Amino acid sequence: MERKRLEFPDGIVEVIDATRTRGTIVCAGDQSGSNGMTIGWITIGSSWSRPICAVLVRPSRYTHKFMESGDSFTVNVLPEDLQGAVDLFGTESGRDMDKFAEAPLTATKGLMVASPYIAEASLVVECRIAFKQPMDRSLITADWVEDFYGGEDYHTIYYGEILAIHAK
Ligand SMILES: Cc1cc2nc3c(=O)[nH]c(=O)nc-3n(C[C@H](O)[C@H](O)[C@H](O)COP(=O)(O)O)c2cc1C
Repeated sequence: MERKRLEFPDGIVEVIDATRTRGTIVCAGDQSGSNGMTIGWITIGSSWSRPICAVLVRPSRYTHKFMESGDSFTVNVLPEDLQGAVDLFGTESGRDMDKFAEAPLTATKGLMVASPYIAEASLVVECRIAFKQPMDRSLITADWVEDFYGGEDYHTIYYGEILAIHAK
């Protein structure tokens, strides 16, 4: 089905709200292999004079491998009647099952990036990774180390330049 293209920042408030309240799904990889996982944290704005979307992925996630091997990711907002799929993508690992087949959801090559987006998504943000930063424990405020990490698995933060936003 033809997707409706949006201009930044159209749709962005909805992406932030959905991520914060229900979770959205980050997909990364290409036709040779890909994966997706639920995220609850996202930062979207304007930096380097470009529209930027930053997501945080822990190295323990299978998705991390695809974030590292590729140069792109997509953020997918699923309609509320597919919330069960969001929960599945946030509780199971692609190491153990094909989550797209299990959900089921349709991985479709991005319009502007190699990573797939989810055809059933009501809203999609496609990003090219412009900068990434593994979090350095020595630079994190002490109470956050305690609150969020327990001494390991510090996120890598991926800053993506937003190349496309599209809706169903
Ligand atoms: C609501 C929700 C939000 C989540 N947010 C994040 C996140 O922002 N970053 C992260 O690394 N993991 C997050 N997770 C955990 C991953 O989605 C989860 O570990 C997933 O099973 C990883 O799948 P994978 O191993 O196939 O990559 C979240 C899980 C849920 C349920």
